[in-house]
Amino acid sequence: MVGSANLNIMIKAARKAGRSLVKDFREVENLQVSMKGAGDFVSRADIAAEKILKDELLGARPTYGWLAEEGGGQDGEDPTRRWIVDPLDGTTNFLHGLPHWCISIALEHKGKIVAGVIFDAAKDEMFFAEKGEGAWMNESRIRVSARHRMIESIFATGLPYGGRSDLPATLQDLARLMPVCAGVRRWGSAALDMAYVAAGRYEGFWERRLNAWDLAAGIIIVREAGGMVDALEPSGSILDSGEVICANEPIFDSFSKVIRG
Ligand code: IPD
Ligand code: CA
Ligand code: CA
Repeated sequence: MVGSANLNIMIKAARKAGRSLVKDFREVENLQVSMKGAGDFVSRADIAAEKILKDELLGARPTYGWLAEEGGGQDGEDPTRRWIVDPLDGTTNFLHGLPHWCISIALEHKGKIVAGVIFDAAKDEMFFAEKGEGAWMNESRIRVSARHRMIESIFATGLPYGGRSDLPATLQDLARLMPVCAGVRRWGSAALDMAYVAAGRYEGFWERRLNAWDLAAGIIIVREAGGMVDALEPSGSILDSGEVICANEPIFDSFSKVIRG
């Protein structure tokens, strides 16, 4: 696919930040002996990746607004366009030497996501989409899966850790879902979870208490791959609520009935 100038800027930025993160990821294993050392190192890796992304994205489009996990947001001269960035999604995996983390970059225009890139640098898988152009992984077009029976389907979520208040709701979801499906995965990167739904690797994903930078790129990649994405509260705002449910079209109704209770 020949992408727009903006998509090419996003992909180039993701590759550059990806090289920096891969280099740092190799170091992480050496640092496992000292927990403090590894933790500090990873937050420096995260901040360094965000700086590369900001320099590349705002360097190419200086009038756009900016929202990113580490440094927060800033308005641009152009109030209609904004980059939404998570420089490292899956930090806990990265810290533990697990190769399942990514960079997530979205472009928002007039409140709608118009382009998204999710780059799994460790596996060299670049997921991307632009409005009306389909969804892609490297050189191949991707589609959501065609499975329509819950009992044959697998789903992903995030399990709330460290005393988070949404644990009871998630445990109730699991109690309803697990008996009627083929399995539930918790891989530790919400952005990659959405990319995997788009690629048909699993049928659906839901999670509470996320942020705009975890979700923005995934929204357009899933939709362009033929999937459905909604806020958990029907017709609510996904980015404002931070609660998402997405799936292939044939399974969305049954899946959302189980999750929404
Ligand atoms: C986290 C991951 C994880 C999700 C957490 C997020 P981070 O992002 O997406 O899968 O369950 O809620 O905060 O902290 O690694 O950027
Ligand atoms: Ca994240
Ligand atoms: Ca992050």
